[in-house]
Amino acid sequence: MANLKVKFLGKEFKNPIIPASGCFGFGYEFAELYDINILGSISCKGTTLAPRYGNPLPRIAECKAGLINSIGLQNPGVDKVISEELVKLAKVYKDQVIINVGGHSIMEYTETVKRFNGNDQVFGIELNISCPNVDGGGMAFGIDPATAYDLVSQVRRVCKKPLIVKLSPNVTDIVSMAKAVEAAGADAISLINTLVGMRINLRNGEPIISVKKGGYSGPGVFPVALRMVYEVSHNVSIPVIGMGGVTNAYEVLEMMYAGASLVMIGAQNLIDPYACKKIIEELPSVMQEYGIVNLEDIIGRTK
Ligand code: SIN
Repeated sequence: MANLKVKFLGKEFKNPIIPASGCFGFGYEFAELYDINILGSISCKGTTLAPRYGNPLPRIAECKAGLINSIGLQNPGVDKVISEELVKLAKVYKDQVIINVGGHSIMEYTETVKRFNGNDQVFGIELNISCPNVDGGGMAFGIDPATAYDLVSQVRRVCKKPLIVKLSPNVTDIVSMAKAVEAAGADAISLINTLVGMRINLRNGEPIISVKKGGYSGPGVFPVALRMVYEVSHNVSIPVIGMGGVTNAYEVLEMMYAGASLVMIGAQNLIDPYACKKIIEELPSVMQEYGIVNLEDIIGRTK
């Protein structure tokens, strides 16, 4: 009998599969398709202090093995997330969720994070220091270890929930970024966010995306994500959530061997809204194929 349970930061997750932020709305939208209570948890759409309308259209460009997005952190703002989105989600999802928090300044991050401190529906905060689609914020905090250290330590002071920091792959040394956020007090690391990319419209020679560049994700980034999860998890003492191009249960196992305790599924939800359900359902037979009884036993086993 395959055991899919994993412990992460003191909580038992029924399985490691979590839809990644930005690819699953606030979760309740998918409850019309299947019982989302099968999910290990949900990482909700990135939330900022004030509402954001996002970047001008077009903000999606298709690629051979994924897509480029430049959504620009569109969301209704933290107050509406708490009073409307999480209320709708509570009606259809009974477990705790992860709140992805974005921002343009340390004040914006700390104020947003504070609002979730007393909210029992929230398991933890995923601090997004890696969004490539906003000017003067997001990824600007996540490509220099000293800047990341400063932000994370100030958020740590006000955050009463487990603090997970989401890293950008757009750096030359991912391990130094991971060590900086660990030293600043992060409880866990999630990676990878998207790789900066672009496409050009051959009819006019102009970029397809209105703001020229965006974040590339999908199956094409899986080997890069796997390598970074491996490098980070073998060089820090805090747990790691792996994501980036995961499309099936086999790749979930690879992520876990590399060092991921939990695995987030992103772009695949946009290709197939049943992706997480299918992965959860196929995990037991894929584990059996490789003689794995307890999923937790393989975490970080790759030397
Ligand atoms: C976006 O809203 O632009 C995507 C979020 C992210 O890349 O972190």
